[in-house]
Amino acid sequence: MTAQLSKKSEAWSARFSEPVSDLVKRYTASVFFDKRLALFDIQGSLAHAEMLHAQGILSAADYAEIERGMAQIAQEIGAGQFEWLLDLEDVHLNIEKRLTELVGDAGKRLHTGRSRNDQVATDIRLYVRAAIDDIGALLGTLRAALTDLAEQHADTIMPGFTHMQVAQPITFGHHMLAYVEMFGRDAERMADCRKRVNRLPLGAAALAGTTFPIDRARVAKTLGFDDVCHNSLDAVSDRDFAIEFCAAGALLMMHVSRMAEELVIWMSPRVGFIDIADRFCTGSSIMPQKKNPDVPELARGKTGRVYGHLIGLLTLMKGQPLAYNKDNQEDKEPLFDTVDTVVDTLRIFADMAGGISVKPEAMRAAALQGYATATDLADYLVKKGLPFRDAHEAVARAVRACVDAGCDLADLSLQQLRAFSDLIGEDVFAVLTLEGSVAARDHVGGTAPRQVRAAIARVRAQLAG
Ligand code: ARG
Repeated sequence: MTAQLSKKSEAWSARFSEPVSDLVKRYTASVFFDKRLALFDIQGSLAHAEMLHAQGILSAADYAEIERGMAQIAQEIGAGQFEWLLDLEDVHLNIEKRLTELVGDAGKRLHTGRSRNDQVATDIRLYVRAAIDDIGALLGTLRAALTDLAEQHADTIMPGFTHMQVAQPITFGHHMLAYVEMFGRDAERMADCRKRVNRLPLGAAALAGTTFPIDRARVAKTLGFDDVCHNSLDAVSDRDFAIEFCAAGALLMMHVSRMAEELVIWMSPRVGFIDIADRFCTGSSIMPQKKNPDVPELARGKTGRVYGHLIGLLTLMKGQPLAYNKDNQEDKEPLFDTVDTVVDTLRIFADMAGGISVKPEAMRAAALQGYATATDLADYLVKKGLPFRDAHEAVARAVRACVDAGCDLADLSLQQLRAFSDLIGEDVFAVLTLEGSVAARDHVGGTAPRQVRAAIARVRAQLAG
């Protein structure tokens, strides 16, 4: 019987009486995607081994052998020479098997007081933490690039829209700073999420803890975690941090997508507010005149998959009883794809921001077309003593007359304007100009160029600190 048993399933040994079918092996294996966690897996294993040694559970010689073996494995992986085997199911068993090949019994002792359940939870947390740090840096780069663009155009007038209709004049710098705010909140959210990512599951073992005298705080410190997870069942089964990360990623992509949509509209020849450097655009295989804003369009499109990953993870966790279930293996691909999508998108957007050229004449012409200073005229009348609702009505009549006559408010003579209110005087023309309109919105958060410059200084101080 023992002879027969020993031929059995490679990883599970004596418990099984028939081998796993190839189909099942392929279905249950994760190595072809979770090998991405390899270096985090090694990092976690080394911290665990160091603690085992410090606690007298592992001899100095074994610990040294594990360190030596892991260094070689890391080098093999880096050089692309590591042989990943489907038979060994996942990244953890592949590395452990190779370690044992290299260092013998010391390798077999590594798994003392540990399970793949707390091991994988630790690996993903290390992975997400590194991703958050990368994303934080990229958000900083993107915000800096948009702030530079805002500074170049602190005085550039464009129409501000509500309902896609010209509403009031604003500056292009102010418009860019709106995105700087959004991406600033994304950075805050990522930093906040990091606090809950940065806790150590190791020590929970399979689900209940371990009988060995481990020192979890020591491992947490070695790995740079702020704390340990305080309940072993929760430690191995919690994926809140991954969901939270994807939620923050989804929000971030929503911001990217809104910006992408604007870039696409602005670059349309019908609007012509901006041009995007050729290196971010493509042509058409049939229409020689085309220059398409592919990068913003793709970013807008890729937002969908990140939303999908968020819902996928929420659904994955819904209804899972405590503690670890194999379902959890499905957390990785959505997580990896979220990281790849967000990182690639931020990188390309930061680069593209520097390749946006603004066409101030087109923006100005559009702002002049839509009665954008109507609110300024109403405010002017209020300052002369008219109640706001009456002022609104008087200006509405003036706009109506302009629509009929096919002209702008600023084209009316003083006499014509006075037909709508005799409170109007010669000084009205200052408020009807686009420059006067933006300069007048001179308070924190307003579009006045002075405020745009103050906001830029605030963002730069933030980015520097
Ligand atoms: N490959 C597994 C995962 O990604 C590792 C943990 C497996 N644990 C287990 N008891 N089967 O979740």
